Amino acid sequence: GRIALILGGTSAERAISLKSGHAVLAALERLGLDVTPVDPAEVPGSACFEALDPARFDRAFVILHGRGGEDGQIQGALEGLGLPYTGSGVLGSAIGMDKYRSKLVWRGAGLPTAEFALIHGETDLKRAAALGFPLMVKPAHEGSSLGMARADGPDELASAWSAASELDAVVIAERWLSGAEYTCAILGEQALPLIRLETPRSFYDFEAKYQADSTSYRCPCGLPQALEAEYQRLCLQAFRSVGASGWGRVDFMLDEAGAPKLLEVNTIPGMTDHSLVPMAASAAGIDFEQLCLRILETSLR
Ligand code: DAL
Ligand code: MG
Repeated sequence: GRIALILGGTSAERAISLKSGHAVLAALERLGLDVTPVDPAEVPGSACFEALDPARFDRAFVILHGRGGEDGQIQGALEGLGLPYTGSGVLGSAIGMDKYRSKLVWRGAGLPTAEFALIHGETDLKRAAALGFPLMVKPAHEGSSLGMARADGPDELASAWSAASELDAVVIAERWLSGAEYTCAILGEQALPLIRLETPRSFYDFEAKYQADSTSYRCPCGLPQALEAEYQRLCLQAFRSVGASGWGRVDFMLDEAGAPKLLEVNTIPGMTDHSLVPMAASAAGIDFEQLCLRILETSLR
């Protein structure tokens, strides 16, 4: 069938989405599929609905990252148009894009996540500081570590909050996690092999993700098999509990006692040839073309 590949968009992660989108486009074209790229940034407003006319397409492969594309907005539009699409629906996308509400769901479901405080205004800074330093300050609805900063004391907390609130009205402070960071790619009902991320930087920030040569990725991740399986089950539960489905990636870290703490769900994770989901898929014997096909199949609901 005819596929609309929705890429780019208007979020702060536009550049990453264009990279992911072009990698997916090339793979689907190598498979001989009929794919048309659609960039919502180029067809704003109602023109986007016309560009995605279900008379022109049979399904949509959504590879937008960040707000507008990964948060349920485009998914809602596609529901309205009646065009089947890849990945999570409106609810899972919306909760997955919201780190604060993801944590509320996990806490309610009894799944482990670091202690946190919501920072709405200056009066909340004291409550956040009471969690104990260092803290990680995050805008609740960003991706790729945009706007995130470590705070080692009240002054840094105030400046990190003010920087994060330039990007988002909702900012959270989380207890600093000092253990290793892992990510779990999810494809259909399956959790793929874990990847361990290591960076000499203070944390796995935008530069460590996309620019630094010093970031290393270990897959196999080095954990004993039973523990890896336990963490994979935790990530699948975390993914399903926020209502996510189809494919995605769950990030978590270990605390100082070695206990896993869920960080976030990415319902449309990066798909560049250096990205983590393709790396985990490859470790499971699934090449990039097959991975794109499997993701495309998630639109058949
Ligand atoms: N938000 C980026 C694209 C990721 O999770 O891979
Ligand atoms: Mg993310």
